[in-house]
Amino acid sequence: MTSHTVDGKTDLPWSMDAIRYSDIARDAVEDDALLFQIVASASFIEITSDLYTENLIEYFRDDPELVDWLAQHWEPEELQHGAALKRYVETAWPEFDWQRAYAGFFAEYSRCCSLENLAPTRALEMVARCVVETGTASFYRMLAEAAPEPILHQIASNIAADEVRHYKNFYYFFRRYRASEHPGRTAVLKTLWDRAQEVDTEDAYIAFKHVFRVSNPEAEFQPADYETFRTGVRRMGREYFPYGMALKMFLKPLGLAPAIGRMVLPSAAAATRFLILR
Ligand SMILES: [Fe+2]
Ligand SMILES: [Fe+2]
Repeated sequence: MTSHTVDGKTDLPWSMDAIRYSDIARDAVEDDALLFQIVASASFIEITSDLYTENLIEYFRDDPELVDWLAQHWEPEELQHGAALKRYVETAWPEFDWQRAYAGFFAEYSRCCSLENLAPTRALEMVARCVVETGTASFYRMLAEAAPEPILHQIASNIAADEVRHYKNFYYFFRRYRASEHPGRTAVLKTLWDRAQEVDTEDAYIAFKHVFRVSNPEAEFQPADYETFRTGVRRMGREYFPYGMALKMFLKPLGLAPAIGRMVLPSAAAATRFLILR
């Protein structure tokens, strides 16, 4: 695979400069409000990645291998996800004032959510990161499959591949810390479960709210609008969400066969339902 250099520092596995945004079949997407809301919300969350990288790097400051990967690969790749999706939004839905909506999102989000709760041990924090990457990898896989035109399919596929690689890296570091910290299976399961509950809460809601406000200036945002959005995403998920992949990734830190995992968790569907928004 070729790699691309940004500012001479970072090798990225793909470059948004190679995406042919001018080829977007706009008529295939311009009237798709749900798709617009999904892609715009995702762009806000991804482009804000650096806000919560800092305390993660701080937490692992005496692990140079992990810090180096986070700073040189993980963060720049997440930021490119945001930038690539932003350009897609600006090209496919040019009437949307991305900058203004993002400013509203950022003001609210940085006030309430910039400091993520870190897990009590390093091994468990790596488990939590695996959950987040499971969620993003399967979300972008879904988006790639649901995309009504090839440029969005390409962007979402590229991002999904990055998120799977992020998962593999966090899983590698999880195994490394597991060897020294020996977290119990119950603690791992609790971390999986707790993080799964949190995944689609604040940031997706705030992102959607600001996307909605700027794209519907005549309407007053109501929580019901978010519910409508979620219903639409769930409908998309029923058709395109990669449940098998998500379940396998989600359960892997437990070291159980998926068949046993299904019995351990209250239900496989409940375990993966959370993944649908991120
Ligand atoms: Fe990402
Ligand atoms: Fe990621």
